[in-house]
Amino acid sequence: MIEIVNVNKSYNGKSKAVDSLNLTINDGEIFGFIGHNGAGKTTTIKMLTGILNKDSGYIGINGIDITHEPMDAKKQFGYVPDSPDMFLRLKGIEYLNFMADMYDIDSETRKDRIKSLSERFEMATALNDKIQSYSHGMRQKIVIIGVLIHSPSIWILDEPMTGLDPKSSYTLKQMMREHADSGKTVFFSTHVLEVAEKLCDRVAIINKGKILFCGTINGMREHFKTNESLEEMFLEMTANE
Ligand SMILES: Nc1ncnc2c1ncn2[C@@H]1O[C@H](COP(=O)(O)OP(=O)(O)OP(=O)(O)O)[C@@H](O)[C@H]1O
Ligand SMILES: [Mg+2]
Repeated sequence: MIEIVNVNKSYNGKSKAVDSLNLTINDGEIFGFIGHNGAGKTTTIKMLTGILNKDSGYIGINGIDITHEPMDAKKQFGYVPDSPDMFLRLKGIEYLNFMADMYDIDSETRKDRIKSLSERFEMATALNDKIQSYSHGMRQKIVIIGVLIHSPSIWILDEPMTGLDPKSSYTLKQMMREHADSGKTVFFSTHVLEVAEKLCDRVAIINKGKILFCGTINGMREHFKTNESLEEMFLEMTANE
C-alpha cells in the first residue's frame, strides 16, 4: 500500500510541479498514473522512492515513512526509472548479481530468480554481454529483472512499457496482473491509454501537478455521463484546464 497525503513539490522555488497531492494505492491493485508531458508523474514517483525530497506532506510505503525511515521503506518496493541507461559498463549478469547483493538475496534464490526472469523476458543468452551493447528494450528488461530479483511487495514503474517489443510488453503486463492478484501493489505511469484502460483497476489523472480524477474507468464514465474511451475522456478533461 502507498499513501500520499497532501504532498507538494516545487523546483527552485518556481510554480508547483506537484500540488497538494493525495492518493492511496491499495494492496491487490494495479494503479495507473496518467498525464501529459510535464504533468508531475516522474516528480511524484521520485518522491515516493525517496530520490527527491518533498517540500511538505506525508508518503507511506506499507505504512513506513519514506522520509524518516528511508532504508526500511526502500526494502518494500522495486523501482523501474523512466530511463534504463545505467551501469552500462557491467555485463547483464554482473548487474543482476549486484542488485541481488544489495538486497541480500542468497545464492540459490538468486540463481532461480535470474533463470526464470531472464527466460521469461528472453534475456538469458544476453546476460554475458555488456549492458552498453543492449538495445533500448533490452536495457529496459535488464532493469526490470534487476528490480524483481528481491521480490518486492510494491512495484513502482515509470513508463515501463517504453521500448518493449509486443511479447515483452505482454509478459510484463501479465506479471503485473499476477502480482496484484497475489495481494500486492503495482503503481505505474504510462502514456499508452489503451494499455491503462485494459490493465488498471484504478487510474489517477494528473495535470499541472494536481489530480483531476482518481477512480475506476467505469467510475470515470459514470462521472462524465459518457461511454467514451479513457483516451477520449482524458483528452477532454485536460483540454479544459
Ligand atoms: N530537475 C528539474 N528541475 C526543474 N524543473 C523540473 C525538474 N524536473 C522536472 N521539472 C519540472 O516539473 C514539472 C513536472 O515534471 P515531471 O518530470 O514530473 O513530468 P512527467 O509527468 O513525468 O512528464 P513526462 O510525461 O514528460 O515524463 C515540469 O514542469 C518540469 O519542467
Ligand atoms: Mg516522466
